[in-house]
Amino acid sequence: MTNDRVPPGSVAEKPERPDRVRRSMFVIGCIGIGAATAGFLAATVRFLVPNVLYEPSRRFGIGPPTVFPPGAVTFLPDRRLYVFNGADGFYSISSVCTHLGCNVKRGGPGFECPCHGSQFDENGQVVQGPATKALAWYALSLSPHAQLVVDLDQPVNPEFRLRA
Ligand code: FES
Repeated sequence: MTNDRVPPGSVAEKPERPDRVRRSMFVIGCIGIGAATAGFLAATVRFLVPNVLYEPSRRFGIGPPTVFPPGAVTFLPDRRLYVFNGADGFYSISSVCTHLGCNVKRGGPGFECPCHGSQFDENGQVVQGPATKALAWYALSLSPHAQLVVDLDQPVNPEFRLRA
C-alpha cells in the first residue's frame, strides 16, 4: 500500500505531459503557418506569370519562289494552305473548309471536301454546300530575304496576285 498524499511543505513533481502537448501544438501551428505562407507565395508567383497561349505565328515564310515551279499547286499540310504559282503570279488559298473545318482536296479545277461533300471552284467560291462561305485567300508578300511570306491576318480577294 502506497501513500499518494504529498506531505505539506514538500515540492510536488510536475507532470511532463502538459509541456509535451504544448510543444507539439506549437510545432503543428508553425507547420500550418509555414504551409499557408508557402501557398500564398506560390499563388503570388503564379499571379505574376501571364496567361499566354503560345501559338504559331500567323505570318510565316514558306520558302523562296523557286520552290514553287511555274503552274504548280503546292499543298502545305502543316499550314493548311494551297500555294499556286499561276501564269499571272503567286496566290494562296486556305484548305480549311468553311463548313466544319476539314481539309479540302483538289478535285478537278476546284476543291472538294471529303467530310460532307462541299465543292468549291478554282477561286474557292462555293459550288455546292453544305458550306456557305468561300475558302479564304491570304496575302502573299516577298520578304527582304526573297522568301514568300503568308499573312493569315490579311485576307485578300481572289484577284490578288504576287509577282515575284
Ligand atoms: S467540313 Fe467540309 S463539307 Fe463539312
